Amino acid sequence: MKRTPHQRTLGVCYYPEHWPETQWAEDAERMAALGLTWVRIGEFAWSRMESTPGTYDWTWLDRAIQTLGSHGLKVVLGTPTATPPRWMLDRHPDMLALDKDGKPRGFGSRRHYCFSHRGYRAECAKIVSAMAERYGKNPHVAAWQTDNEYACHATTLSYSDAAKQAFRDWLAQRYQSPDALNRAWGNIFWSMEYSDFKDIGLPNLTVTEPNPSHVMDFRRFASDEVVSFNRLQTEIIRKHSPAPIAHNYMGAVTEFDHFATGVDLDIASWDSYPLGFLSDRIPAPQDHKLRFVRQGDPDFQAFHHDLYRAVGRGRWWIMEQQPGPVNWAPYNPDPLPGMARLWAWEAFAHGAEAVCYFRWRQAPFAQEQMHAGLLRPDSAPAQAFGEAEEVARELTAMPDVGTAAAKVALVFDYASDWAWEIQPQGRSFSYFWLVFHMYKGLRRLGLNIDIVAPDTSDLSAYRLVLAPGLFTLSDPLKAALAAHNGTAILGPRTNSKSENFSIPVPLPPNLPGLDAKVIRVESLPPDVPVPLAQGGALVNWREKLEGSATVTEVAEDGWPALVSAGNMHYLGGWPDETALLRILQRACADQGIEADPLPEGLRRRDSATHRFLFNYNPVPAEWGGVTIPPAGVLWTAL
Ligand code: GAL
Repeated sequence: MKRTPHQRTLGVCYYPEHWPETQWAEDAERMAALGLTWVRIGEFAWSRMESTPGTYDWTWLDRAIQTLGSHGLKVVLGTPTATPPRWMLDRHPDMLALDKDGKPRGFGSRRHYCFSHRGYRAECAKIVSAMAERYGKNPHVAAWQTDNEYACHATTLSYSDAAKQAFRDWLAQRYQSPDALNRAWGNIFWSMEYSDFKDIGLPNLTVTEPNPSHVMDFRRFASDEVVSFNRLQTEIIRKHSPAPIAHNYMGAVTEFDHFATGVDLDIASWDSYPLGFLSDRIPAPQDHKLRFVRQGDPDFQAFHHDLYRAVGRGRWWIMEQQPGPVNWAPYNPDPLPGMARLWAWEAFAHGAEAVCYFRWRQAPFAQEQMHAGLLRPDSAPAQAFGEAEEVARELTAMPDVGTAAAKVALVFDYASDWAWEIQPQGRSFSYFWLVFHMYKGLRRLGLNIDIVAPDTSDLSAYRLVLAPGLFTLSDPLKAALAAHNGTAILGPRTNSKSENFSIPVPLPPNLPGLDAKVIRVESLPPDVPVPLAQGGALVNWREKLEGSATVTEVAEDGWPALVSAGNMHYLGGWPDETALLRILQRACADQGIEADPLPEGLRRRDSATHRFLFNYNPVPAEWGGVTIPPAGVLWTAL
């Protein structure tokens, strides 16, 4: 991972096509005066770029880019492929994605296309080529964005004919013969054997659950389709432009393997909506949601910063930052004054190169008219405008950021999320939230964390490695763990399936040097915690372990909960916060890592040069003899 210092910059998302051209120059002037560097444009404007098939109008975009550029702003140009215009449907009536029930995704919003439709891909290649040819050498176009938020609105999986054909080809390549596929999937079960790839359907509309191996391969295939769709665009752009290419990922979206798309991109970016996410997708208790209602979860943003730093191999941005109330969550509160500043600084502390607010001016029309911007619909500054201004001022005093080395690594694997979604074996088992829970525990202890990919082959930089819930251990990771001389904590469920989605023998976790076998598992309803002898409990999930490994934690009923051999530990369950903090603190003590719990809602992050404290609480926080106000950020030189 790159650790060279780079400049921190601010930006904004702008839609020149939404405003009269007479307004552009004034907007650009105000953006520059505010201290912004970047303006992202273009990603939804296909109907204005190509209003009828093959008729391009670039003149307005030329002028928009010129106007922004002449005010010293740098443009991130988005390809518009998330919003195919209405005429596309007349040319390709079958380009729509179909949902699990076989219903088409209708026109009238966005992201209605099927990743597998070859005709639609050809249309995308055409518009991206035309854009890249025209703007590839434009001095103001300093970065690109492909599409917009792949997978957002649950749009990766499509049960269309195009997907079915492509899936059959993918299977034929992977297995070579129907017999090999039958064996791998265990199709003798329920007489599901196939004699020809052309007979294999998509895993929907079955009477009861489809074969998990079938679904797992469909998920892998669907992820590969996103990767190749994205690659089609990056290959075209690279032919014409030297500028770096980004994609804007989302929060808690795991439908495709972001590490795999990341390989084809220069920058990973993500769209951070802390209050929307807390209201919409974080399964937290009500008192937590109430405490952080105007600030967001104290760890959710940081988790994604660390994840996307890994996906971007060191280079990452916030492409969209919430500036005020959004429109799309169940409840859309106003951020506490100061949060638009805090969120930006937290991103910078985690190594972001740029933070772009979404959006410049609130649109008075269409779906997002209730979504705040830096400006109100009447162009007067909204709350976040002043906060962005403050960040811009502060950046001039401290322009460079370097990512600090972390002693702790947490493995994240998209395929494991698919695996446990396919076979949770208990409603409350979620891979994503298990990993996030571990991350939260580490953060509560004030640690810097690197999230690493599941095929990481070198762990030598880390004193402590956590790999919860990995459905299978990759060969490189297995070798890296074997060579690692720090502490490793694996489990629960780690290495409990084969690649083909079956239970391996010898039984899991089958870790080198650790004599332990999972001989039974149970999932636990929400109100059935299993107390541990040393305090705290296992929740959601636990395993019965057999073997001669040392029992380090045990449940009150005598089942081992954590077993160890030297520095290798296997966790046979999902520890609650009390148990998790104890286990992590013990591991940190073993490795000489300083790890003291921070007060609730206060978080710490070290950059290469500074120690940052962020107060996510609605009340002041005390730490180390200082008081940090609500939404406060404090930094001291290291
Ligand atoms: C993002 C999306 C933007 C806008 C924004 C509203 O998910 O990329 O286009 O819709 O949400 O919060």
